[in-house]
Amino acid sequence: MADETVSALVRDATARLTASGACSPRLDAELLLAHVLRIDRTGVIAHPDVPVGPGQKAQYEAAVTRREAGEPVAYIRGFREFHGLALATDARALIPRPETELLVDAAIDEVSARLTAAPRSPSAPALRVADVGTGSGAIALALLAALRARRMAEQVMVVATDASAAALDLARENAVGHGLADRTVFVEADLLPPVVDPPYEVLCANLPYVATAQIDGLARELAFEPRGALDGGPDGLDVVRRLLDRLPGALAADGVALLEIGADQGETVVEAVANRLPGWHCSVQPDLAGLPRVARVARAAAGGSTQGAVE
Ligand SMILES: C[S@@+](CC[C@H](N)C(=O)[O-])C[C@H]1O[C@@H](n2cnc3c(N)ncnc32)[C@H](O)[C@@H]1O
Repeated sequence: MADETVSALVRDATARLTASGACSPRLDAELLLAHVLRIDRTGVIAHPDVPVGPGQKAQYEAAVTRREAGEPVAYIRGFREFHGLALATDARALIPRPETELLVDAAIDEVSARLTAAPRSPSAPALRVADVGTGSGAIALALLAALRARRMAEQVMVVATDASAAALDLARENAVGHGLADRTVFVEADLLPPVVDPPYEVLCANLPYVATAQIDGLARELAFEPRGALDGGPDGLDVVRRLLDRLPGALAADGVALLEIGADQGETVVEAVANRLPGWHCSVQPDLAGLPRVARVARAAAGGSTQGAVE
């Protein structure tokens, strides 16, 4: 890197990242410099002529080299913003994605409506929520943080599971960091503990849903994330189907499951529910782009029709 001002470093790094095939090179260059300088990105943009000392320049060089090799910005910075929370991120778990915020919103609405209709006194059992495949803890913690802002978090207990012990360690660290460890129980399990008693009222899951054959063709950044967080088998829905089979024993009579799915999986999920869970209902909520994103699965007697629907 030839020069030592903010703008020169960003210009040079942008050129290197462009050459390496990064899809948002300037943004990445700015975010990484902001991270090294411990300021936010607007500071980098607003102060192009500020000199950068040799120590920080060397740190920036190292960060840009990692990004050139394809490592995601969130792993280099060590955190990602998700639903208003800064969550620690590293190779132990998937980086939380913006599309998952829709599932969090649906969970907040569902839990808030239940608590508004029937508030839990301090002596009553908490409303039980599951976050299956919690990864960094993103869904569980964003839900609890939103409920805390509504003064409802103390009425809820979230059981957050993962098959990966390493991911659970990261999720626990995030729970402690956000002061939510007392509302969460982390369990290493294949989907759910063998016996769920009492059952959950609300179950959220963003499980792997990428088809195996598609994984290697995806962005090279994905190679840095755990394969077990992505690979959903031949059509992407193997793990989700196994979870559907667990729902009768895991969900309360009036319980609801909210499952993130791929944009091309709406019809397949509705069909899977119809085939595997007779008497249950599945509707699919689209995201802001109009693509199928969150499947809502419940017993038909709990309020849905017996037919599935992609909205
Ligand atoms: C797509 S990632 C989602 C992580 C997190 N929920 C999020 O939204 O950022 C899927 C997660 O499910 C976990 N997982 C995969 N198969 C599982 C299984 N059979 N039982 C429990 N967790 C599983 C993975 O380890 C990974 O953490």
